[in-house]
Amino acid sequence: MAETRVRRQVKVVPSDDGQVSLPGDIADLLGDEAELQIGPGQVVTLQPSTAQVEPVPQAAVRPAPPTGRAILEVRNLSVLYGTFKAVDDVSFQVLRGEIFGLLGPNGAGKTSTLSAIEGLLRPRSGSVVLDGFDVQHRPIEAKARMGVQLQATSFQAQLTIRQIIRLYAGLYGVAISDAEIDDQLQLVGLAAEAAKPFKQLSGGQQQRLSLYIAVIHEPALLLLDEPTAGLDPQSRRQLWGRIEEIRKRGGSILLTTHSMEEAQAVCDRVAIIDHGKLLTAETPLDLIAKHKDDPRVRAVAHGDVTLEDVFIGLTGSAVRD
Ligand SMILES: Nc1ncnc2c1ncn2[C@@H]1O[C@H](COP(=O)(O)OP(=O)(O)O)[C@@H](O)[C@H]1O
Ligand SMILES: [Mg+2]
Repeated sequence: MAETRVRRQVKVVPSDDGQVSLPGDIADLLGDEAELQIGPGQVVTLQPSTAQVEPVPQAAVRPAPPTGRAILEVRNLSVLYGTFKAVDDVSFQVLRGEIFGLLGPNGAGKTSTLSAIEGLLRPRSGSVVLDGFDVQHRPIEAKARMGVQLQATSFQAQLTIRQIIRLYAGLYGVAISDAEIDDQLQLVGLAAEAAKPFKQLSGGQQQRLSLYIAVIHEPALLLLDEPTAGLDPQSRRQLWGRIEEIRKRGGSILLTTHSMEEAQAVCDRVAIIDHGKLLTAETPLDLIAKHKDDPRVRAVAHGDVTLEDVFIGLTGSAVRD
């Protein structure tokens, strides 16, 4: 039987016939048919008591190759929309246990880079290897190891938070009791929301829920696209805390942001991307040290050079939409 196990109790590919059972009450609530995205590029069609998952390619049963220190290796990645090059020959690595930030102004190519890593779009060239699995050639294994929070996430509006968690736990094959759900909702500050429908949550609460679901199967790499955009300062701090916790539990994180404060607060290393090209990947302090005497950076600095001065110096002051 073709089955992928990722750490404890996680089964992403349910069985040869592609069926998983859903808790009965949730299946009833979903009605005759609904479509859900359970992972990047993995859309599931739900029927009242079963979900049909895309078939497993034969390659899925081969043993995993040995992996090195990098959890993610992106090599010479290019993404084109028609003739427009949104990502231009980008290479970088995310190390195990690292929080890596992809920084860039609007339209720089951050989401396109992430989408290619997530297998949501096919790059024109280059390769992405996650924990030893090539995302294009071994998508099932690669996707089983990633947790994804897209720039905008929404769940079934009428389901309660508890039902949404049970639904996704069921789809990922994660065994979780109601008592464990209560404990975990407490931890992420959603205990009082357990019985509320998704549509009643505030932006910060929705964001906490989507992050919780992105890591429900304990992925080796968590990909977050502008996770704190639009959050108030308290929610932002709380999210930074959650990211640190996920790392402490052995996860690695790749996030995009245009907040320099965020990059400095949480990222071990950052890479600046602009016009689809990756400019540099360093620790925030090394990045400042390396570029503080660059005339473009000096020209925009007020006093001591900050990461934001380096960012604006290297990417220019023109406003991007
Ligand atoms: N589906 C698409 N079709 C055409 N152009 C796109 C598409 N998605 C993004 N782009 C363009 O690609 C560039 C990079 O976009 P994106 O990766 O979303 O940047 P970022 O996430 O850094 O803001 C932008 O110029 C954007 O307009
Ligand atoms: Mg984006």
